[in-house]
Amino acid sequence: MQLSQAIQVAVRGGVNHVLQKTPEPFFSRIARPSSIYIMITRRCNLRCVMCGIPLNPSPEITVDEWKRILDDISNWTRGSCKLQFSGGEPLHFKGFMEVLKHSVDLGLLPGFCTNATLINEDNAARLMEMGLENINVSLDGVEEFGDRIRGAGSFARTDAGIQRLVDARTKTKSRTPIILKTCLMGVNTPGIGRLLEYVRSSGVDAILFQPMEIREFDSDSNASLLNCEESAMQEAVDLIIESRMKEKIVLNSLANLRLFAEYFKRRGAPGPVRQRCTVGDGSLMIDSQGAMSFCIGLGEIGNATVTPPSVAWRSGEAKKSRQRIYKCQKGCLQTCYATRTLLDKVRSFAFLVRPSTK
Ligand SMILES: C[S@@+](CC[C@H](N)C(=O)[O-])C[C@H]1O[C@@H](n2cnc3c(N)ncnc32)[C@H](O)[C@@H]1O
Ligand code: SF4
Ligand code: SF4
Repeated sequence: MQLSQAIQVAVRGGVNHVLQKTPEPFFSRIARPSSIYIMITRRCNLRCVMCGIPLNPSPEITVDEWKRILDDISNWTRGSCKLQFSGGEPLHFKGFMEVLKHSVDLGLLPGFCTNATLINEDNAARLMEMGLENINVSLDGVEEFGDRIRGAGSFARTDAGIQRLVDARTKTKSRTPIILKTCLMGVNTPGIGRLLEYVRSSGVDAILFQPMEIREFDSDSNASLLNCEESAMQEAVDLIIESRMKEKIVLNSLANLRLFAEYFKRRGAPGPVRQRCTVGDGSLMIDSQGAMSFCIGLGEIGNATVTPPSVAWRSGEAKKSRQRIYKCQKGCLQTCYATRTLLDKVRSFAFLVRPSTK
């Protein structure tokens, strides 16, 4: 990201933060999302144990429909909006590269999350040439620790995809960060040391941990996947915190990491929510059918193929959904408890605008 774009995104976040305190209709007329999460498909070539998304396939909207939606988002946010494409496996969606390229051409700031098993030399080079904001590669463990979660042989395929991305980045002199994304659960806690070693040696830039969520809408989600010895989880969290303090490879904030062991013990966010959830104030989700929401399960605010996101954002449905969100007491580690100090924010900013790749 260029410095000017990073400043725009930071200013948008600051403005949204101030506007959170203002009543409607001022809020939705002035605030704009600084990030939009797009689940472009629910289809996937893997069947990870904690993820029910590919088990519930749904119809998909077309590339042309995505382009129209992106045109609206670009006009509305004047480009300074991060897009995070995910799925299912985004590379499984025919036309995904075209949608990504369209986002870049509009001046939006797209990145995506992938299992990297469908990365080949050709698409790796094209992705790196596009100038994306990030490529997040999900990897939950090295060798058997990854395979137990993502299927036999999956680590080798993901590792090969990562190496292709790293090589393509060097060849194209791209600055796109490659960030590992790890879903922390019982079965991979003993492998965290090896995973951190992999981050240091594989050419990726950093790692972001997310504790496994028990998602009501994932039919195969199983609370027992969180099971492990309390001491094993504490050891894994201590290793991550030690790395976070000594080197620059772990992206989570310290406050967020310190809640992980407690989260596992309680099978949920620890204690009552200290502050209201802000997921409806600066972000938006669009699913593979075009349905828009702030948080899955707390109400749809329209379909983007019929109602442009800029209109749905300030609709009556959006206001109702925000009211439900302000009252939600669930508490999620990636939203309500992702407390970040000013230093954390400066660190993320420096990471975004850092001058060169490895
Ligand atoms: C649903 S996947 C979609 C993108 C791509 N297929 C991948 O695996 O990166 C996006 C992220 O959600 C994570 N995930 C899946 N199920 C989860 C769960 N129950 N709790 C927390 N994260 C989960 C995955 O590990 C992955 O990092
Ligand atoms: S986590 Fe990603 S790779 Fe695994 S099943 Fe879900 S969508 Fe597919
Ligand atoms: S705290 Fe509630 S509203 Fe906020 S993201 Fe979690 S479930 Fe959604």
